[in-house]
Amino acid sequence: MKLLVTGGAGFIGSNFVRYVLGERPDWEVVNLDKLTYAGNLENLKDVEDHPRYRFVRGDIADRELMDHLFSEESFDAVANFAAESHVDRSILDPTPFLRTNVQGTQVLLEAARKYKVGRFLQVSTDEVYGSLGETGRFTEESPLLPNSPYAASKAAADLLCRAYHRTYGLPVVITRSSNNYGPYQLPEKLIPLMTLNALEGKPLPVYGKGENIRDWLYVEDNCRAIALVLQRGKDGEVYNIGGGQELRNIDVVERICELLACRIGRDEGELKALITFVEDRPGHDFRYALSCDKVRRLDWSPEVSFDLGLERTIDWYLKNWEWVGRVRSGEYKEYYERIYGPRGVT
Ligand code: NAD
Ligand code: TYD
Repeated sequence: MKLLVTGGAGFIGSNFVRYVLGERPDWEVVNLDKLTYAGNLENLKDVEDHPRYRFVRGDIADRELMDHLFSEESFDAVANFAAESHVDRSILDPTPFLRTNVQGTQVLLEAARKYKVGRFLQVSTDEVYGSLGETGRFTEESPLLPNSPYAASKAAADLLCRAYHRTYGLPVVITRSSNNYGPYQLPEKLIPLMTLNALEGKPLPVYGKGENIRDWLYVEDNCRAIALVLQRGKDGEVYNIGGGQELRNIDVVERICELLACRIGRDEGELKALITFVEDRPGHDFRYALSCDKVRRLDWSPEVSFDLGLERTIDWYLKNWEWVGRVRSGEYKEYYERIYGPRGVT
């Protein structure tokens, strides 16, 4: 199978490309990525010369390029990971989110339709459902009630996918996963940001009271689910993918401090003293939780517990300090100032 992976130089995309090359010997991967601030070819250094892998730099919203690429390559399937992915950045400026996540997805859908691609998998998020209270879970039938510009752009893309299936019969499937964590995640997201700040003795900026709840999914578990849905998912269907490990943010941050203290031989109290409660994120969703019966029926369940996944993640960052140095230079510093400066913790 010849598979187009978009956004393969990002966090989940690069883990997925590596997973597929290792686990699906008859799949060939073309990775198309614009290499925004979030795209990094270093994430795929170990597979760059793999005989079943090829990289193309480009923008999913570039109609001409997509038309050319699809006509040349005859893809059997597309997995669309490419996106602007960070809620805080979408609050600073929603514009690139609409261009890539909405317009870009439509351009890809159109190319897939024109060149009769046999499967189009849209990588979406539980954030399209909005926010839960203390109880309940989202099912695939829950209404789409996105709250952040990021979530709204992903919901719009999901609706376009639905429309392309209903109107043109395009064989679309959608995965909606909970919060991923693991190797190669940019330290703009909670787990790597707190890990690296704690290592360097910097403040750990917890929004509000730290009581918001996320369901954490180890990235490899998500990659395995996405590959299965690509193969066995039913056209037109949505599949929730959750780790089933709900935690309050403050508990995640404390656990990072405990594990890290143990790994580097420091006092955990010293690291926990870095926790700083800062001004909340506007429109901050309180809780996400997913019902995953559908994907479980495809013979999937998460295999990596939160403690094991967090240990692996922390060890990966400790071993990849040079990677960290490079991704935190330049643009990252500016972003950090813009988000955390007004909260008094730079
Ligand atoms: P990321 O920000 O780490 O990577 C995004 C990648 O897309 C980067 O390599 C970037 O260069 C590329 N990209 C951005 N705009 C592009 C464009 N116009 N054309 C081509 N490439 C472009 O994101 P991630 O965390 O790996 O997320 C991947 C996907 O998974 C996204 O669609 C996101 O919405 C979804 N998702 C993420 C999470 C999570 O916890 N990270 C959870 C659920 C769903
Ligand atoms: P994040 O990793 O940005 O993912 P998402 O917003 O897509 O869930 O944030 C996870 C949770 O952590 C979310 O409730 C916001 C919170 N958070 C902080 O408290 N401080 C931070 O510096 C960041 C980045 C996130």
